[in-house]
Amino acid sequence: MISTITLGLAIAAFAKSAAGHASIWHQSMWGFNVTAQTFSYDNRPVVPLQQMPFNQWWFHNHLAYPPHPDDFMEFPAGGSVNMQISCDKGYTDLYASAPGGDIRDPNSPLACPGQPTTAIHANNIEDVAGCAIGIAYKSDVNDVQPQDFAIFTVNYTCPWYLNTEFQIPADMPACPEGGCICGWFWIHNPDSGSEQMYMNGFQCKITGQTGNTPIGTPGLARRCGADPANGKPDASPNNCTVGPVQPFYWDQQEGNNVGMFEGIYSPPLYNGLYGFVDGAQPNLFQEPTVGGAPAAVPASSSAPAQSPSPSAQSVPVVASSSADTAAGSVAVSASVNVPQPATTSASAIAASAPKCKRRLPGEKKQKKRKSKARRSSIERHLKKRLAHESH
Ligand SMILES: *[C@@H]1O[C@H](CO)[C@@H](O)[C@H](O)[C@H]1NC(C)=O
Ligand SMILES: *[C@@H]1O[C@H](CO)[C@@H](O)[C@H](O)[C@H]1NC(C)=O
Ligand SMILES: *[C@@H]1O[C@H](CO)[C@@H](O)[C@H](O)[C@H]1NC(C)=O
Repeated sequence: MISTITLGLAIAAFAKSAAGHASIWHQSMWGFNVTAQTFSYDNRPVVPLQQMPFNQWWFHNHLAYPPHPDDFMEFPAGGSVNMQISCDKGYTDLYASAPGGDIRDPNSPLACPGQPTTAIHANNIEDVAGCAIGIAYKSDVNDVQPQDFAIFTVNYTCPWYLNTEFQIPADMPACPEGGCICGWFWIHNPDSGSEQMYMNGFQCKITGQTGNTPIGTPGLARRCGADPANGKPDASPNNCTVGPVQPFYWDQQEGNNVGMFEGIYSPPLYNGLYGFVDGAQPNLFQEPTVGGAPAAVPASSSAPAQSPSPSAQSVPVVASSSADTAAGSVAVSASVNVPQPATTSASAIAASAPKCKRRLPGEKKQKKRKSKARRSSIERHLKKRLAHESH
């Protein structure tokens, strides 16, 4: 007989490991050796970023945990690289410094072997939504601003597999003497887990046949693919941003660069929905355009991104950026630069402004019901398993 307490503990442990989440694992990353105990809260690289102040999500708050100066991830221009993505360092080739040691599973190609796929916030392989790598052509991490990152490669099946291949665009320019700063970015589909984003920074270099033309000023990706869940059966390619784009900074207390136009359960994604192709991103060496016209590129900020001013914190990002755009203004006053939506039609944005509410009243309830249903299905599963084992 299993006591309720044992069952409760088992459920808690199971639920905890099931909430696996994921990150890249590489010596070049900030926070490589950060464990659940390093911070006063669990700030392992795999932990999702949600409703955080700027300093807490930017580089995962790992800037004080840098890689060794000479550890770089190398990206061969026109080639491809394999990156390991997992919910635990112990599943990767770098298990030696994992707190739990070697838990690799040679028989599984998955990012989190032996765990339910909800560990990577996907119900099945069709449900993964892609992840991306961005690059900033700066060597000092303290100089890097959110709008410096340009997404140069995407993998639609990420983070399903432990080994994820990324295609590197041909003619990527070489980095400055001290290398570049890169970031891994991921947002998952809304149907498997709560709304959040992921960011891990790492040192990188472009190697091989590098080009001479710099990447253009990164704009903002726009929702332009078919979106049946939101009543848009057809893609609207004219709404896509063509050219380099920034990562999505989303669902945080401050520093967001993408709004909630479609609601919190319609997250921005690194796939065709936001105009990304699967693999190397095209059109990087130009300024971004929307519908053939120059996109409004966010003004760059001279203030250090690490110290957002108090006024920046109180500015509701979505409202202020759409208001500014509607007024045709490009001024951004916050020191955490709030980039302008890359738009040719201010009125389109203005029209969508009333929809910029974070949470519709019904949504939260619906979500609660969903997660409750999931929890009880986990409980059922566990009870069955425990009952089975006790026989
Ligand atoms: C991480 O930990 C391993 C094992 O303790 C150590 O060899 C390595 O130097 C550490 N790396 C960093 C970046 O601190
Ligand atoms: C994405 O990664 C998977 C797993 O490594 C790989 O099979 C696939 O070819 C990659 N896709 C692209 C576009 O590189
Ligand atoms: C165009 O993109 C914006 C910004 O991502 C989005 O809010 C809007 O719904 C899109 N419009 C269409 C017709 O896809």
